[in-house]
Amino acid sequence: MKKLAVIPGDGIGPEVIAEGLRVLSWFQRERGIEFEVWQLDLGAERYLRDGTTFPAELRDEIATSCAGVLLGALGDARVPNFEHARDILFGMRMGFDLYANVRPVRALSDRLVPLRGRTARDVNFVVFRENTEGIYAGIGGQLRRGSADEIAINEDINTRKGVSRIIRAAFDYARRTGRTRVLMSDKSNAMRHAHELWQRVFHELRLDYPEIEARHLYIDALCLELVRDPSQFQVIVTNNLFGDIVTDLGAALQGGMGVAASVSSNPDHPERVKLFEPVHGSAPNLVGRGIANPVATVLCIGLLFEEFGFVGAAHELEIAVRATLEAQETTADLGGSLSTSAVTDAILARLAQPAPA
Ligand code: IPM
Ligand code: MN
Repeated sequence: MKKLAVIPGDGIGPEVIAEGLRVLSWFQRERGIEFEVWQLDLGAERYLRDGTTFPAELRDEIATSCAGVLLGALGDARVPNFEHARDILFGMRMGFDLYANVRPVRALSDRLVPLRGRTARDVNFVVFRENTEGIYAGIGGQLRRGSADEIAINEDINTRKGVSRIIRAAFDYARRTGRTRVLMSDKSNAMRHAHELWQRVFHELRLDYPEIEARHLYIDALCLELVRDPSQFQVIVTNNLFGDIVTDLGAALQGGMGVAASVSSNPDHPERVKLFEPVHGSAPNLVGRGIANPVATVLCIGLLFEEFGFVGAAHELEIAVRATLEAQETTADLGGSLSTSAVTDAILARLAQPAPA
């Protein structure tokens, strides 16, 4: 049986993960989808209790025994500088070499699209965010800390291997899913060394995909175009930092942070463990109030089904989620008045209804 490690983590993480697991249980019970759930006590509480962040033995056990990891959220004001969270989050993204962070930006209801005159049909693209290097690589340092002459540096790491594999993953995905357009975004006009590499690699690799329209926009222009007309995009590939930023913009286009899901994988090693995470953070201001939106995590369960070939279940779940969003059976961030668990109840109730003839 496939094993799924579950890290509820910090803030609203445990609240939304509990709801995601209720949905998973429903499919286990009603559709015979088998996953063994392995709950892991990692996060700020654990770190404050005994100093544990992400032990190497645990990392290795996840790598060898798990098909997936479901992560809630990380980040806690009691742990300055995100210390524990970096070990855990980057320990998985980089430690497992999960270079493709795939973030679908898909509006599931017209109601959720914030742009005047646009409908859900206009917001349907996928961001391929490079997930193992760039500015997130952690190379840098500080000099003369705290003085007036202080220097702080983070290096932007771009390797030919890293750039090539994420661009190729984006083109392969487009080809596999019948999409016809791939856009690469960088800032090569300003970052002439690091991002010129992206330009060159993109222009080399596009030749292998003659049927796909390959386009480039600088990241600032992409932000403008995403708001002006999101319907022009199908697949966007970019570096780690720009992918982080642009997927928050994407989340806004699809209804907010409460509905954005993601999966990280290594497309060169599909057998390797995959990481499923809602895009939102730990949202400390929502903790313990029963108002966190579980939909992003529920959509992560949908991505889990897709990744492991349970296509029918993924489809069924999507229909149920769409229906609840349409009916405004949502938390307050999406205009509804339901609690976190009542949203899941609504989704489960829709799942249990016989499909319309
Ligand atoms: C995300 C988050 C993380 C990131 C943070 C929590 C480090 O914003 O997954 O988008 O920047 O990757
Ligand atoms: Mn982010």
